[in-house]
Amino acid sequence: MMKKLEQVKQNVIECTKCELYKTRTNSVPGKGNFKSDVIFVGEAPGRNEDKHGEPFIGAAGKRLSLALEMAGVSRDDVYITNIVKCRPPNNRVPNTDERSTCQEYLKEEISIIKPKIICVLGNTAFNSILGGSEITKFRGKIIRKNNQLYFITIHPAATIYNQKLIDVLNEDIAKLFELIKELKNNNEVLIDIEQSS
Ligand code: URA
Ligand code: SF4
Repeated sequence: MMKKLEQVKQNVIECTKCELYKTRTNSVPGKGNFKSDVIFVGEAPGRNEDKHGEPFIGAAGKRLSLALEMAGVSRDDVYITNIVKCRPPNNRVPNTDERSTCQEYLKEEISIIKPKIICVLGNTAFNSILGGSEITKFRGKIIRKNNQLYFITIHPAATIYNQKLIDVLNEDIAKLFELIKELKNNNEVLIDIEQSS
């Protein structure tokens, strides 16, 4: 498992499949525990991530780390990745071509780790993975699609510009790990939305 994930990581590091390779400093492969119950999926690397080749290490990453800490979870226990693995110039939203080209890597990460649940962070990930929009309406909800569970929440970066959202993120992440506890105990969890593709 770890070997396969290392291979994906290497492929991401060397990837030139979309235009974003031309402007990146470093690709940013997913990072974390390959035995994690959950994969967190953000949008795309920002400036800090591009500089160091690691996901969620800037201001947004700090918010995510704090939310995990408050839920009693260490970052080392989970797996964190993005929809696209290279930084779009000026942090623009990755376009549909970039997203669909890069999605092969996310699919591989998911099929290797086989998480109990995927935590979708913000609108870009929500739209790319589940075709959704209006994250504020769907956050906190559990979606099942093709036998895979998803938990929807806001992007941690949203809490930087809106302090009121800090509690929202923290509460959602706490709820997520309560849910994971139930899943590990094989208890029934309430699905908010059933989706088929
Ligand atoms: N924002 C993201 O969506 N991903 C990162 O890795 C950093 C900031
Ligand atoms: Fe390859 Fe994804 Fe980077 Fe594009 S964003 S070059 S598809 S790793």
